[in-house]
Amino acid sequence: MNDMKTCFHGGASFDAIGSDFDRLESKSKVIRADVIDAWYDPAPNVVEALEKNLKWLLRNSAPTNSEGLIKTISKVRGIPPENLLVGGGSSDLMFAFFLHYPFDSVTILDPMYGEYAHIFEKVLKKIPQRVLQRPKDCFKISTDDILQGSAGSDMIVIVNPNSPTGQYLTKDEVQKLLLALPKKTTLVIDETYIDFVGKDQSVEGLVPEHKNLVIIKSMSKVYALSGARVGYLAAHSDIIEQIRGHIPPWSVGLIGQVAGVEALKNEEYYEKRIAETHQLRENFATQLKEIPGITVYPSCTNFILLDISNTGKNSKQIYEELIKQNIYVRDVTSMGVQFDHNFIRIAVKDGQSNDKICSALKNILKRTYEKSDTF
Ligand SMILES: Cc1ncc(COP(=O)(O)O)c(C=O)c1O
Repeated sequence: MNDMKTCFHGGASFDAIGSDFDRLESKSKVIRADVIDAWYDPAPNVVEALEKNLKWLLRNSAPTNSEGLIKTISKVRGIPPENLLVGGGSSDLMFAFFLHYPFDSVTILDPMYGEYAHIFEKVLKKIPQRVLQRPKDCFKISTDDILQGSAGSDMIVIVNPNSPTGQYLTKDEVQKLLLALPKKTTLVIDETYIDFVGKDQSVEGLVPEHKNLVIIKSMSKVYALSGARVGYLAAHSDIIEQIRGHIPPWSVGLIGQVAGVEALKNEEYYEKRIAETHQLRENFATQLKEIPGITVYPSCTNFILLDISNTGKNSKQIYEELIKQNIYVRDVTSMGVQFDHNFIRIAVKDGQSNDKICSALKNILKRTYEKSDTF
């Protein structure tokens, strides 16, 4: 159900599993490639800490303001604690920040992760300026276009790497953009997927020196913690002090805090999973490219964008036919003005699931070709 008061995010696979969890045992029969959750488990030390202490973790209140989690993020990511806030997923922090940080006008990328446009348009009733990234350029993000298209904006929000396109700006490009912007323009960067490009490409370490830079980072995807709800925001300490009072106590539950701390202690495990994800994505993309009519866009992340306009079916039809086989992909029409039912995004899963998605797509589209041959 989407009543437009909330942003649509996929997640329809809970129709098959039961959102009251009454058919949880069927979860292994469902491929959830519509949301970009990790295909791998959290690190073994995360699982062990939770399993060992589960009853205690469920029954007890967490440290009120996630002090230990902040300390760990600070140590591992090299960001001073006074430059950090944590929340119950980055979504929590987006609402805390944009609803309480003063600005009049904003520029966003298009296409882009939909929650930002939702917050600006539906919650704050501010129509953002949109900087288009075009299919003919493989949706490459252009800093020149951002600079031109954002003239007069108090704030610019970009997702880097971007979803659903899998395109990114390098650290150098982001730094140049930051320096070229008027100081009164705040640059907000969602770096949820930056570890897939490399931690060294993050600009989160620059926040103490820049009063107009804000980084929003979900720990859901890379750290395989979507269910635990952990995210952080890094910014100049003046900004952190402005927003801190709007974060409720215990915004990250005890399970989330323990999971977050343990995950950050095992970067080596996640580096390996990221390397495997790149391999899985390349194999997946190679198979998808063999399906007639499908155009596969290059990606550096754990999802792939497809143009299906030459398949004889639109994104809604493909989405619905895949659901019949318990496969959920994302029709990204709501994420960009140019998509118009011609694009789908598929999260990279384990090799077996990726193969199943490819065979299902092949079968669906084979039937279309056979049918059109008879006319
Ligand atoms: C770019 C981006 N930012 C933020 C989020 C939200 O993540 P969280 O689970 O931390 O709320 C998502 C979720 O898909 C996302 O893709």
